[in-house]
Amino acid sequence: MAKVAPSILSADFSAMGEAIKKLELAGADLVHCDVMDGSFVAPITFGGQMVKNIRPLTKLPLDVHLMIEHPKTQIKFFAEAGADIITVHYEACAKISPDYLRETLELIISYGVKCGAVVNPDTDVEKIFDVFPLCDMVLIMSVFPGYGGQKFIPSALENVRKAREYALTIGKPDIDIEIDGGVNIANAAAIREAGANVLVAGSAVFGAADMSAAVAAIKG
Ligand code: DX5
Ligand code: ZN
Repeated sequence: MAKVAPSILSADFSAMGEAIKKLELAGADLVHCDVMDGSFVAPITFGGQMVKNIRPLTKLPLDVHLMIEHPKTQIKFFAEAGADIITVHYEACAKISPDYLRETLELIISYGVKCGAVVNPDTDVEKIFDVFPLCDMVLIMSVFPGYGGQKFIPSALENVRKAREYALTIGKPDIDIEIDGGVNIANAAAIREAGANVLVAGSAVFGAADMSAAVAAIKG
């Protein structure tokens, strides 16, 4: 069975505590925290303080997705705030230096936090094959980051398949392949079949009349 990571981007930020309780009761497996800096992506969401405030409210793993420039400068804050896993974008790292992604992942690991690399829908996942051995998770974007509620880009499934296949090739069958963006009850089965085992869902969970039913249907 796949895991579901509801994105708190779709929650009411003025009632975050309640949102965390609700998604826990609905059967969520992780809490997906979308961090945006107004530069790598246009909007600004929140920083380490939000993660720190959520931390005591739940035992669920906090899955922190950094959509920010210069991620290395921020790892300390999110690690100390209580993140269980931190993922960083290949695209933000590649424009700094060829080694920046690897160095950032190693920094995350040095804090005893799980790490992952993320690729946008127009980046071939092969670009991050070299860091798979370091990663606990690979995050495949199925929308361009920045906003919740966008339409799923089907070609992202090709990256999911390639990632799953490569993980098997290098003897890492347990690596989490997470998908993020436009996931809903209707497309979840195809996504799971392609090899993703962690499905992020924002609007499909927070917008559902019955949150538990939505989480269960996405898990399969
Ligand atoms: C997009 C974020 C996603 C997004 C998911 O930038 O990384 O996590 O909030 O929301 P939905 O499921 O509504 O596409
Ligand atoms: Zn996300």
